[in-house]
Amino acid sequence: MADLQDLLDTIAADMAAIEERGRSADYIPALARVDPARFGIAVVTAEGHSFTAGDAETPFSIQSISKVFMLTLALGKHGDALWRRVGREPSGSAFNSIVQLEFEHGIPRNPFINAGAIVVADAVLDRGAPQGAIGELLRFMRFLAEDDAVEIDIEVAGSEARTGFRNLALANYMKAFGNLRNAVDDVLNVYFNQCALAMSCRQLAMAGRYLSADGLHPGTGHQVISARRARRVGALMLTCGHYDGSGEFAFRVGIPGKSGVGGGILGIVPGKASIAVWSPGLNERGNSLLGSLALERLSEATGWSIFNGGLSI
Ligand code: DON
Repeated sequence: MADLQDLLDTIAADMAAIEERGRSADYIPALARVDPARFGIAVVTAEGHSFTAGDAETPFSIQSISKVFMLTLALGKHGDALWRRVGREPSGSAFNSIVQLEFEHGIPRNPFINAGAIVVADAVLDRGAPQGAIGELLRFMRFLAEDDAVEIDIEVAGSEARTGFRNLALANYMKAFGNLRNAVDDVLNVYFNQCALAMSCRQLAMAGRYLSADGLHPGTGHQVISARRARRVGALMLTCGHYDGSGEFAFRVGIPGKSGVGGGILGIVPGKASIAVWSPGLNERGNSLLGSLALERLSEATGWSIFNGGLSI
């Protein structure tokens, strides 16, 4: 697989030469300070080989990518009953939009827009203490990544808690519709901490392996989630993982992906690989500009697309 290493090195070098890098998220002050020149990529294959290039060992704020892992935990606790409280349709709206919630009686369109992720955080909290749910997620991420160095950046969590007025509005609104069981402050405490998980591309690609391996943790053989659920999480990533940019991402890259405003993207190639990429500058939809481009180049060069019957390499 020497060619995969060469390919990642080429992609990283090409990305370093691009001047138009998008803008770091500035509505969370701690994220606005991140250097837009950073770029990292990591690929872990189904055979267990990992390849990295650029700043692949630097932890960054995974933000909304955490929603995939929280959904996994919530489905484990509540099973399909979760779908009575959150939908499975792309929203076509911004990640932090409130407009659909009124028409749809406080049931968010999908688990990846902020409103949906707040419901999922409420489901994981499950009448317990926020510290318990946060600890559960942190242990889960360390287990998935096989790395106890995964941490939550408390500065980022605090920064978002001080400025998260839209999320406060979304949570209060859903509470009014009876779609949150716990206190709004407790749910948001969990949500802000999950978004503040700091992981490197290597750690994130390791953590995503179960989604490309029929729900199985390749390191331990543990069934994290059933194969059927792993496929369904992948379907939601493809249709909703980039918010109102999901169609464009599917068109250009052709694999399930989940973005975060920290500039990370987790990409899943079923049966082949788990990929994490990071570049802090965002496009107008809040998705990593160069991260999307790097994944497009990678999928083109490898043939990795769920629409490629042969799934080459
Ligand atoms: O709630 C927020 O606004 C952020 N913590 C997460 C948003 C996010 O990552 C959207 N992704 N592109």
